[in-house]
Amino acid sequence: MTGWSQALSGANGQMTAAPSEAAPDTPTFIGNRGLQLEEKLLFEQDSPGHCGVDLPAPPPHRSRLGGLERQTPIGLPGLSEPQVVRHFTRLSQKNYAIDSGLYPLGSCTMKHNPRLNEKVARLPGFADLHPLQPVSTIQGALELIETLAHWLRTLTGMPAVALSPAAGAHGELCGMMTIRAALTAQGDPRRRILVPESAHGTNPATAAACGYEIDPIPNDPRGRVDLTALKAKLGPAVAALMLTNPNTCGLFENEILEIAASVHEAGAFFYADGANFNAIVGRVRPADLGIDALHLNLHKTFSTPHGGGGPGSGPVALAASLAPHAPLPWIVHGEGGRRLIEHTEGSATQTIGRLKGFHGQMGMFVRALSYMMSHGADGLRQVAEDAVLNANYLRVRLAGALSQSFPGACMHEVLFDDRFLKDTGVATLDFAKALIDEGFHPMTMYFPLVVHGALLIEPTETESKASLDQFADTVNALAARAKTDPASFHAAPRLTPRRRLDETGAARKPLLRWRPEPVRQEAAE
Ligand SMILES: Cc1ncc(COP(=O)(O)O)c(C=O)c1O
Repeated sequence: MTGWSQALSGANGQMTAAPSEAAPDTPTFIGNRGLQLEEKLLFEQDSPGHCGVDLPAPPPHRSRLGGLERQTPIGLPGLSEPQVVRHFTRLSQKNYAIDSGLYPLGSCTMKHNPRLNEKVARLPGFADLHPLQPVSTIQGALELIETLAHWLRTLTGMPAVALSPAAGAHGELCGMMTIRAALTAQGDPRRRILVPESAHGTNPATAAACGYEIDPIPNDPRGRVDLTALKAKLGPAVAALMLTNPNTCGLFENEILEIAASVHEAGAFFYADGANFNAIVGRVRPADLGIDALHLNLHKTFSTPHGGGGPGSGPVALAASLAPHAPLPWIVHGEGGRRLIEHTEGSATQTIGRLKGFHGQMGMFVRALSYMMSHGADGLRQVAEDAVLNANYLRVRLAGALSQSFPGACMHEVLFDDRFLKDTGVATLDFAKALIDEGFHPMTMYFPLVVHGALLIEPTETESKASLDQFADTVNALAARAKTDPASFHAAPRLTPRRRLDETGAARKPLLRWRPEPVRQEAAE
């Protein structure tokens, strides 16, 4: 057993706890290094009595709380305005971002967010909209939403698009719920979803959240779905196949037409995870591949910023058979212009209902449409081609030093595993930490789970040849050093404000808020 099913059963064992190390000795008096200042928590900077604003004492007033007023100070740190400004500015400077440099996280697609999108999203006519405004005053916003849906329908070839889901995983939920609604309406609810081992963890999690049993499909030696295994598992209990294409190994599922035909023959739906649409936008229309439902991550393909669980946007494109179940609200045209269907009524009697307040993430819609219109259809195709070209350039430049997991050309991301580190005592994690010392954000590590010690690299289309070369030179040099000086990797990163952390401890026993010292000790125990 490999892949996410193994991880879910707790047998993965690839991610080991990193040793905690004390901060290195520093030659400076107070811990600052260069102009990188050591930052204390706001509570640790507390100077009682300090305040950023001078407010006059409140006039005497009669209590209306029946003696329930707080009798003790609220316990906030006393800070002046400059202290607060410096604190947050210094924290922001410690943040690494796509605006700082190359961000080669595979699967996460950290692509440049064009400033034009930001400018358009900040136009007061969009930014100052209130979701409860009368529909007659938001006709322009509704037109924008419809125009975006039109672009997405055109690019996917699918007849309907639901825009409200707030993230890729939310889009998966929407798609699965429409499939469940369609099967239930047919009187054939079915209970099982087939999910390839290489899938993003959100796929099986979403299907399980919808009440389905999950049945994993192995990969074949080429890193694609094992068609024979898939066909063997198809049957009357299968509600849908959830397939990512291009898949999380960065490969196009080139048997997809046969896969679609087999799924349909078994009376099941074909759900596609379209989070990697940035590799094929403008080149392939998912509808032509036989897909019935597919979510798109606007934050991956159409350059809206990542939202850390939201506010992202994960629209779902639906085939005609699923469209009647699309979530509310629906925009329809009437005599007074556009209006909204917000309840199960009229043509929307089979909808799955609301998934999200109002229309979804309006700011993301504006950014995504701005990106699409500024590129045009041919420009979007060029984006996909350049993303694939850049990934393949890195693939070739790193091929001599790293071990590529599956032979041949890749799509928008390239997958390596840790065979190149065999017998060095250096693990994928050590390698990634050493990259930080060289000034590069690491690639995605240990995902997908179908290969051992994965390193998944996605450069995106906006990196220049010079920046790709600098990255490739560094990775190649580190790979050579792993053979001659493995010990240096175990201490990495050495140049960061904090050394290697106990990542398992941080995930399992997180300390998420400041507490006075004695309480903190107790929480850690
Ligand atoms: C292939 C794939 N599917 C699903 C998701 C989930 O998307 P989100 O993080 O927006 O929920 C991602 C996220 O990057 C992904 O790469």
